[in-house]
Amino acid sequence: MALPRVLSVIGAGQMGIGIALVASLRAKIPTVLLYDRDPSQITKGLEFMDKLLAKDVSKGKTSEEDAKAAREKIISITSSSASSSTLNIDEFGWARELGERGSDMVVEAASERLSIKEGIFRALAKNLSKDAVLASNTSSISITKLAGAAVEGLGSSINKASEEGKSCAGRVVGVHFFNPVPVMKLCEVIPGLQTSETTLERAKAFAVACGKEVSTSKDVPGFVSNALLMPFLNEAIMCLESGTATRDDIDKTLRLGMGHPMGPLQLGDIFIGLDTCLAIQETLYEGTHDSKYRPSVLLGRMVDAGWLGKKSGKGFYEY
Ligand code: CAA
Repeated sequence: MALPRVLSVIGAGQMGIGIALVASLRAKIPTVLLYDRDPSQITKGLEFMDKLLAKDVSKGKTSEEDAKAAREKIISITSSSASSSTLNIDEFGWARELGERGSDMVVEAASERLSIKEGIFRALAKNLSKDAVLASNTSSISITKLAGAAVEGLGSSINKASEEGKSCAGRVVGVHFFNPVPVMKLCEVIPGLQTSETTLERAKAFAVACGKEVSTSKDVPGFVSNALLMPFLNEAIMCLESGTATRDDIDKTLRLGMGHPMGPLQLGDIFIGLDTCLAIQETLYEGTHDSKYRPSVLLGRMVDAGWLGKKSGKGFYEY
């Protein structure tokens, strides 16, 4: 199955940077466009990428030439309209640019908010080639819903049941990587209800080329990964909230008693972010109305306080 020649990654946060890196270095995609509407996020993300590449070179895991070639293939793109928090389709000059530069696959790795992702998928469908794979790295949001937004982006004359609508929805798929992307071995691939077989195979081939094992999940809230991980993390937070054990003892129990690489509170703080944990849990709860997915009060309060984990300097731990 053919790999993309021009991959666009949307969002230069930890996930976007990791995906751009493995696509360039491992999958050897010839051109990787990295878009973020915030220029400072691109600068920060690329500095982090440079550190990861330098570490790989110093450990002999990557040659200096390969690291240099991987880095040179990454072209950053930003937009001047960095102010509004809800993306508006009329501002999407960036999507035109990704289209004009020949993107034949996109991986969206923006914030875990439905309205933001829907706006992005509308813009992508409107501006990219009619063959491009439109993939989302969402942790929990319905791929079928994002496909619906993509079809809306084609304009009001195209309905979801038309041939053009079906073909567009057929190109939308979930490719869910795990943080840190260069290290974690899995990519969860999620077909929406209308995802075509070709799109699914192209998504899987891309993940494998990036050096990942693939698991497939149905398009249910949280997919397999977060339908399992989030109740576990939430239960750990509830243990803390109810005083069952201290923060350190909760994490120690899972690390030393069950062999987890890190405790659940530390994992939420460092590799997920507590705002993202809450957003995923809300999607799970709203999507199922099952009380086992109800986010703990403490998690909500911590997000209200701006204690989002390592990225904000404080979560369950101080950084
Ligand atoms: N980015 C890139 N690489 C990183 C990294 C980061 N943020 N943090 C650590 N690493 C690398 C290190 O550089 C090191 O690489 P080398 O082998 O080349 O030296 C490697 O990871 C191992 O690191 P350490 O030896 O320092 O530490 P460790 O043995 O404790 O392992 C870990 C670190 C692999 C991250 C391990 O703690 C772990 O597996 N933690 C759990 C992570 C996890 O569960 N992630 C998934 C979160 S859920 C998610 O992402 C999706 C979602 O939908 C919520």
